[in-house]
Amino acid sequence: MALLAEIEADARACLACPLAESRTNVVFSAGSSQAELMFVGEAPGHDEDLQGEPFVGRSGRLLDRLIGEELGRDRSSCYICNVIKCRPPGNRNPTPAEVASCRHYLDTQVAAVRPRVIVTLGNFAARTVLGTDETVTKLRGRSYRYESTVVVPTFHPSYGLRGGATVVAEMRADLVRAKRFLASGT
Ligand code: URA
Repeated sequence: MALLAEIEADARACLACPLAESRTNVVFSAGSSQAELMFVGEAPGHDEDLQGEPFVGRSGRLLDRLIGEELGRDRSSCYICNVIKCRPPGNRNPTPAEVASCRHYLDTQVAAVRPRVIVTLGNFAARTVLGTDETVTKLRGRSYRYESTVVVPTFHPSYGLRGGATVVAEMRADLVRAKRFLASGT
């Protein structure tokens, strides 16, 4: 807990990459540091940058709905964060240098929260957490290990919003997979 507070304070003062110049807020996390379930997205968007909280825009509303309907929870019982803590201007992709300078925050968040299951949202989070170049389309549908944590990749909710019922159904199936791990005590 002290460790999380310490790295959050570091992140809030972070000047390690150019995103520090354009951000409104550092978007560190939402939810519970005791959570057994962690969601990892890509990077804050416009709404998140303004409010300082991950997944509060349209994507976040879909995520909240799926967490409620498939897991019977709300966001406050999960730990939600992104690989990148500051908004890339115009929602461009983060550069490899930005990822490298931000990576240790995510690693420390995982080590401090020690969730039983991590659900990665989209290509970028899955690739970063699993250390692969594969697409989420290839990766989803099964689970992986990241140190002692089960990783369940799913689509990014923004893709769910664009892709319609089929994509959302696949996201639901992925959350059911995550729920099974939580229930099994693995
Ligand atoms: N997309 C993300 O990946 N993260 C957010 O917090 C919001 C949108």
